[in-house]
Amino acid sequence: MMALLEPGDEVLYPDPGFPGYPSITLGLGAVPVPFELSTRNHFQPDLAEIGSKITRRTRMLITNSPGNPTGTVYTDAVQQGLAELAVKHDLWFSPMKSTRASSTAANISPCCVMPGCKSAL
Ligand SMILES: Cc1ncc(COP(=O)(O)O)c(C=O)c1O
Repeated sequence: MMALLEPGDEVLYPDPGFPGYPSITLGLGAVPVPFELSTRNHFQPDLAEIGSKITRRTRMLITNSPGNPTGTVYTDAVQQGLAELAVKHDLWFSPMKSTRASSTAANISPCCVMPGCKSAL
């Protein structure tokens, strides 16, 4: 994040999520912008909400699957949609992974194989 962000850049991150996402963002002078993980959506990111929060200043999209603390594994459709948003808006895509929430699901970010997707990891 230190290498990729400038002060004032906006960073989308999952909430609830790992506390380091907003604190590291703030420490770099960037602006943390949460997107909600809610029981109403089975803790899956809401692509429409994320899309509505992307501005000219948005630089990075942090995802967390399997997620801490929810344990949620994003569906393939959600992963694909997130990577497409990153490409469309030229965002750094930062696919974080909790080692506590173990999963047998194939959980490779589509960003790894999507032309034009800029993975921050
Ligand atoms: C950057 C980062 N560090 C640490 C953690 C915590 O990892 P764990 O849940 O494996 O303890 C997370 C959670 O996903 C993370 O994204």
